Amino acid sequence: MKSILITGAVGFIGSNFVHYLLQNDHRSDLQVVALDALSYAGRLDNLKGLEGEGRFTFIKGDILDAALLSKLLVRHSIDCVVNFAAHTHVDRSISNPTPFTLNNVLGTQTLLEAARRYWEEPNYVVGTEPCRFIQISTDEVYGALGPEDPPFTESTPLYPSSPYSASKAAADLTALAYHKTFGMPVIITRCSNNYGPRQYPEKLIPLMISKALRDEPLPVYGDGLQVRDWLQVEDHCAAIIAAINRGRLGEVYNIGGHNEHSNLYIVNLILNALHKSPDLIDHVTDRPAHDRRYAINPDKTRSELSWEPKHDFESGLRSTIYWYLNNPSWLVPGADHHY
Ligand SMILES: NC(=O)c1ccc[n+]([C@@H]2O[C@H](COP(=O)([O-])OP(=O)(O)OC[C@H]3O[C@@H](n4cnc5c(N)ncnc54)[C@H](O)[C@@H]3O)[C@@H](O)[C@H]2O)c1
Repeated sequence: MKSILITGAVGFIGSNFVHYLLQNDHRSDLQVVALDALSYAGRLDNLKGLEGEGRFTFIKGDILDAALLSKLLVRHSIDCVVNFAAHTHVDRSISNPTPFTLNNVLGTQTLLEAARRYWEEPNYVVGTEPCRFIQISTDEVYGALGPEDPPFTESTPLYPSSPYSASKAAADLTALAYHKTFGMPVIITRCSNNYGPRQYPEKLIPLMISKALRDEPLPVYGDGLQVRDWLQVEDHCAAIIAAINRGRLGEVYNIGGHNEHSNLYIVNLILNALHKSPDLIDHVTDRPAHDRRYAINPDKTRSELSWEPKHDFESGLRSTIYWYLNNPSWLVPGADHHY
């Protein structure tokens, strides 16, 4: 890609992706266009430091705004779209599902349609690079695993449990239908849980760090033995770039690093790193339909995309904790949401 539109670019993974791309791709003619609606989770500070970067443009806007999308696709000659834009918090999707369906399903379809119309225009100048539409999805679309089940592969049936994961599954299916029906150059990536800098402090790791630093009870759902498969966010970014460069169209790629850990294990690691007592742990009523276990089989991504994660979990988590200690304003005081 030469001119890339990154949506949801101010959120946790989107902003890490923007930084990672600009740091690792040294082409002077690369153009990075960052779009974000600046919802509560989109923090403009996440793109701090890029003000003087001539290859970078930020636009405040919504993927539901078809007119804006058409304009900026043309203006910036976009040949690659990476769609991170979504409402992402499972608890919020349980208390109010409608914005999840609207943003994640209709938003993705609006973006697909705008890209399709632009790339199919008779006077669209095909650049030196082939067009790509990368839909950023999640392992949550597969639903829950039992303790002895094998990890999710790309052919595991979709069986989402929450309005959030259902909206992501619907977006994936819409993107794949655009590939089949219109020949859109779609690739889907499904990653496990990410950790790293710049995550909104309603999610497990920054929430627990912020509570622990204030010596407040750490709310752990149920017995805390729900298992997630964790990946450092830069490893996710590297896999997305590999998918853009080497992925096959119409394919799904699972991304994960074989780091299955229970929530309780992670909370204890955080308490230990911050020299806080495990007595701060407060077991609270479990979330409805809380998936017990996710685990990703990333073999296809490793072999087809020649991708390998670089970070090991324990040291990656320690670096993440230090990052929040050095950037305390990211741990918004008073954050009282569960993860
Ligand atoms: N966080 C994870 O562990 C994880 C794992 C796998 C996949 N994902 C997927 O990665 C993507 C990014 O997740 P995240 O954790 O960075 O989320 P996030 O909530 O931190 O960021 C989402 C961003 O999207 C923006 N946004 C929401 N609706 C929009 C709209 N209609 N138009 C424009 N911008 C909009 C928000 O303002 C926010 O900046 C999501 O699609 C999510 O499903 C996340």
